[in-house]
Amino acid sequence: MEVAEVLPDAIAWRRHLHAHPELSFQEHQTAAFVRDRLDELDGLALSSPTPTSVVATLSGGRPGPTLAMRADLDALPIQEESGVEFASQVGGVMHACGHDGHTAMLLATARLLGARRQELPGEVRFVFQHAEELPPGGAIEIVRSGALDGVDAVVGCHLMSDMAVGTVAALDDACTAAADVFSIRILGRGGHAAFPQLAVDPIAAAAQSVSSLQHVVAREAPPLESVVVSVTRISGGTADNIIPESVELGGTVRTYSEELRQQTREAMERVVAGVTTAHRAAYEFEYVEGYSSVVNDPSLTALVRDVAGARLVDRPPLMAGEDFSAYLSVAPACFFFVGAGGDGAFPHHHPRFTVDEDALSVGIETLTTTALRFLGVQ
Ligand code: NI
Repeated sequence: MEVAEVLPDAIAWRRHLHAHPELSFQEHQTAAFVRDRLDELDGLALSSPTPTSVVATLSGGRPGPTLAMRADLDALPIQEESGVEFASQVGGVMHACGHDGHTAMLLATARLLGARRQELPGEVRFVFQHAEELPPGGAIEIVRSGALDGVDAVVGCHLMSDMAVGTVAALDDACTAAADVFSIRILGRGGHAAFPQLAVDPIAAAAQSVSSLQHVVAREAPPLESVVVSVTRISGGTADNIIPESVELGGTVRTYSEELRQQTREAMERVVAGVTTAHRAAYEFEYVEGYSSVVNDPSLTALVRDVAGARLVDRPPLMAGEDFSAYLSVAPACFFFVGAGGDGAFPHHHPRFTVDEDALSVGIETLTTTALRFLGVQ
């Protein structure tokens, strides 16, 4: 069976999913649709690790390694404005990241590999994962369920509207960022604005803290490594003649290396502690780790790059987060990118985001061939 034979169905599935998007952790109809499509295939053992996820296991005719392949099912809280004929029929919910395409591509891959079941060694687990878009994410639940126990490698991909159709990128090392958030409360002592000596001004301490936090990036991180510290919230005070009791700051930190992530977290708290102490204030520092960075396994990535062949392009890593990183605790993994747009395409998470459907055959072929090569068939 060739890619061209499954492509019309893959496009139809993708359009159906696009018209019927569901939010993270609510993918009931999506999971049911996936189950129905998988039920049409012979030789798959289905399970539901969580209420809205599906894992299909394809056991080959002889012993061999086990490969997991992952697609994500969820949509976003966005009102679609793409104008496509199969646009979302659900108000305020849209597949604006291409996960409908990921699901369709993995279903098609399951059909292609299923047709060759007898000649396959080992096992392939097709993981249709819920809730990629909403931390703590669905991937960690799949891992904790044990559905990936015994897996030797994990592969996943993302359609990218900033890459031309027909291209594939598989980055060595980190390809998405760790995305963390922080909240800082600076505790002063309120009072009359005309008598600052009787108060402890948290606004002055907050202003210094915001400035000094940028020194963590400029003066403590290695210049050739990437780190972003963005203070995106600041609130405090009620009147022009009152020094408030406290000020609240918040924002996000993005890194690629785990070492720099921990170093940045520690440096931020040290800076806030030092600045607030210097101003006679106190502080509360809360740091919540989001998705970790996806760091690709070198040999698995080399395989994907080899499969991509002439389609292979280079691209910078994403500063966005991806919960695929949870699978790194299971086995060596590779997360690759499939071009689905190009010049003038709207970015992911935009109301007019679209996927060029010519990308689907590229994704299906890359996934299928990677699986065959990993299992040692080709
Ligand atoms: Ni996405």
